[in-house]
Amino acid sequence: MNKYILSLLFCALAVVSCRPAMQEVLDDDGNYAVTFKARKAYVLIPSSYSGKASRMDLDVDGASVFEFVQDVTLAKDKVDYWIPVDVSKYRGREVTLRLSGVAEDDIVHGGIKISDEIDMDYDEPLRPVYHFTPHFGWNNDPNGLFYKDGLWHMYFQHNPYSVFWGNMTWGHATSKDLMHWTQHDNVLRPDKLGAIFSGSAVIDTDNTAGFGKDAVVAIYTSDRRGERQSIAYSTDNGFTFTKYEGNPVLPDHPASRDFRDPKVYWIGGQWVMAISVSQVVEFYGSPDLKNWHLLSRFGEGIGSHRSVWECPDLRRFEFDGKEKWVLFVTIARDPNGANNTQYFIGDFDGERFTADPLPYPLWVDQGVNQYAGCTYFNAPDDRTVFIAWLTSSAFSQVVPATKYFTGGMTLPHELSLKSNGEHPILASVPAPEVYAARGASSSLSLDSGRTLISNSANGAYEVDLTFTPAGSEPFGFTLSNDSGEKVVYTFKPTEGILVTDRSQSGLQAFPDGVAVQPVSVIPVRDTYKVQLFYDRMVSEMFVNDGDAVVTNCVYPEAYYDHIEVFGPAAVSNAMTYEMK
Ligand code: FRU
Repeated sequence: MNKYILSLLFCALAVVSCRPAMQEVLDDDGNYAVTFKARKAYVLIPSSYSGKASRMDLDVDGASVFEFVQDVTLAKDKVDYWIPVDVSKYRGREVTLRLSGVAEDDIVHGGIKISDEIDMDYDEPLRPVYHFTPHFGWNNDPNGLFYKDGLWHMYFQHNPYSVFWGNMTWGHATSKDLMHWTQHDNVLRPDKLGAIFSGSAVIDTDNTAGFGKDAVVAIYTSDRRGERQSIAYSTDNGFTFTKYEGNPVLPDHPASRDFRDPKVYWIGGQWVMAISVSQVVEFYGSPDLKNWHLLSRFGEGIGSHRSVWECPDLRRFEFDGKEKWVLFVTIARDPNGANNTQYFIGDFDGERFTADPLPYPLWVDQGVNQYAGCTYFNAPDDRTVFIAWLTSSAFSQVVPATKYFTGGMTLPHELSLKSNGEHPILASVPAPEVYAARGASSSLSLDSGRTLISNSANGAYEVDLTFTPAGSEPFGFTLSNDSGEKVVYTFKPTEGILVTDRSQSGLQAFPDGVAVQPVSVIPVRDTYKVQLFYDRMVSEMFVNDGDAVVTNCVYPEAYYDHIEVFGPAAVSNAMTYEMK
């Protein structure tokens, strides 16, 4: 059979398989509806990166099933990507997809497909290998992290219908080892109270809320013309949730529109919530997760107040044999122009947080691409396991550097307190699970200049190096590829800083105002132990076992596969590991 006949046959088959009996209606007001029997898993909608948002709604057997209409950006004359709408659970039923703002000659008119496959390249070149990314769409903050029965659950701020922010929904993924994730159905979709913004999840061991013993209860912000707090419960270990009919459990704040991101704990015989209100954190108490009363307020006149405070978290640690509490709160625009998380160290008496006098602001990450991190509820052995959002280029909201997804999550970190020589600081190190994901290792011999990194072919590896500076001159290393792209890490030992130069690193997709050469503060020591986890577009560096974490994104045309060290410093323990 020649190629021509083959492709004709393929087209005929494609027509049969993609558009079986679809009835389309387009009215004069641009309202478009396509009706079909759901025989395949997805409806694929041709979409564009830019343009006006259209409203999308779905009817099944004549009744609307989206709890709240979703926004999508439709392709007019060019398809940037296909939006998958999962209709697998309506198999055999009559489905009508409704879209607004459609013109007669738009691609979307007559261009919608139904398919069992998502039309996308899951392995697109810059998609990280060992960092979580959503299959399709946008993610920001991790939400409701909890551990139960051997599974680490992660919900996340998700736009299932675009690679940009919007339609805030809680996506869901689970992992047995904190490194390899399985994405499940979304658990909380926008409703009449609003989009589902960030929040937390607890296990109600004593059935205080009356949803059942061991129910998983999610506490989240409903955002729509103001912000209020709602709850939802799960009696199947967090895979599906029912929204509480008494929502909201905390109405809009009398003093501020910004009232969000509740993080809840069981402390001293009651539920305690930390929540952001404009530029402070308020603490509320509750016996049952439904009735809340104000306990205290923290934050006036301390720390960075460059913008609204978001996503608080509170954890207890031991330091120098004493109990210490750390309050985390995220804020836009740190000295590198990036969104970052600041923290305070002090005491919490069950109602009120007081900060020790330290040189605030202190920052959780010293790079520019880590934000809105939070810790696990119920992690085994009282571990403090932390995961944050890997912010990325789509902040510019123009064209993302990646095609079918935007965002991702950091590696799992384990947190504790350590001294920087002057005062306690938060120490983030890779959780042990990160080391368990190492593949082949090899030692690096760096004497002959630019050296090929073995295990680098897939763009997913760890490089470990220990530098002992000989004097006060800068030293460091460069990762590069054969296309002339490179990222240069320069330590300035007397100043206690590391500069990550991304100016020749590849696509310059960095959002306006965020440093192309971020400056990181690193405590001055005699030696610098560097662990760099490179994952295609992610550079996540840990220095001196918790002295600093430096998270930056880069967008090279080809993976960096060479390394070269420079400056007056002796290098020891030079190793690379493949990461899987
Ligand atoms: C932080 C944040 C939260 C909010 C959520 C909305 O990135 O702005 O304050 O709940 O994202 O997606």
